Amino acid sequence: MALLDVLDLPQLYTKPSAETLLDTLSLLTSAPPSWEPSDHEDQSDGERTPDRRRIARSRAPPINPEGVTRYLTNIVSSSLRWIPEEEMKEEIWIQASARLSERAGRTGMGALSRTFRIPSPNGQFELSIHEPALTGDDLGLKTWAASYMLAKRLHRFDFLRPEGNSKLSVLELGSGTGLVGLAMAALGADVVLTDLPSIYTNLARNARDNSDVIRQGKGSARCGVLDWTEPSICRLLPEGSDVNDEGCPLNTKFPVILAADSLYSPEHPRWLVHTVSEWLSPDPEAKVIVEFPLRDAYLPEVKDFRERMAGIGLQIVKEGEERGYDDWGSANQDDSDAGLVRCWWSCWGRKSA
Ligand SMILES: C[S@@+](CC[C@H](N)C(=O)[O-])C[C@H]1O[C@@H](n2cnc3c(N)ncnc32)[C@H](O)[C@@H]1O
Repeated sequence: MALLDVLDLPQLYTKPSAETLLDTLSLLTSAPPSWEPSDHEDQSDGERTPDRRRIARSRAPPINPEGVTRYLTNIVSSSLRWIPEEEMKEEIWIQASARLSERAGRTGMGALSRTFRIPSPNGQFELSIHEPALTGDDLGLKTWAASYMLAKRLHRFDFLRPEGNSKLSVLELGSGTGLVGLAMAALGADVVLTDLPSIYTNLARNARDNSDVIRQGKGSARCGVLDWTEPSICRLLPEGSDVNDEGCPLNTKFPVILAADSLYSPEHPRWLVHTVSEWLSPDPEAKVIVEFPLRDAYLPEVKDFRERMAGIGLQIVKEGEERGYDDWGSANQDDSDAGLVRCWWSCWGRKSA
């Protein structure tokens, strides 16, 4: 499809109407490329994009990013004096500023909630995932490509659908915003989602926000704190708890463990595999399913992980590669491959004796 040029957009000297400007600003939304068009009905905290604008965006040709930043800056600094309604002017400035922030990359954006569509054996369901404004190094406050790919893959594993009324117990390590664990819960499993204390509050919020879809799927989601550096301790926190509450210790093993995008420091393979060996049930049918991005800098970690998993008596049952996007992975919105990541997924089972 041909690219629209910034000069094709309504120029301020022509005094475009408020409606026209808002429609144009909606076309300039930088949505994460990993979500299909129908998936990126993104909304800033509490504020849904009006249908009219979503429709305009879905029909619009892509826009050449060159000059867009200057176009937006001009709008932000214009008095818009030909527009009579103060609230319309305010909305235009807000939208233009939001488009500028998006161009600064995910870290430049405020909090947001997004809807993810996840396939299931009966069709699909939607999960609403909140990401707080990013602070410091807390990578678990953002949803990563590997987790979206894995969440969409879960329904393909037959053993994740036990027969009859039996329920599968699943532990997720390093849940982050919870997309994988919550998808598993909405597919009918009893899931414990875990992460570091700094991630817990948002994780618990996402579990709460999706309780209806999880209930409809006949699963459950509980959240807790499990630090891989203390792999034998998991503190389950009942709904409504503060992260500093004592909670209750978890003391069951799990027939299925999940993890996505958890290898990005040299210690991670050792810690993660140690944690897996601590919590995986001795059942010969127990499984571990992981998905990691194959970022060049962390390929040694992936190799180390594979060797350590073999070292605790596990072997790959199935594996594959796929491509996804770490949304807003780069501040360079002009690069259509920004954020593109190759991901490796693998399902591990016990080696036969
Ligand atoms: C890159 S994020 C991935 C989050 C989520 N799985 C996803 O893919 O969207 C890595 C996650 O591992 C968690 N993590 C890192 N070190 C950890 C540790 N020592 N114990 C538990 N979780 C840890 C982080 O807090 C973060 O949530």
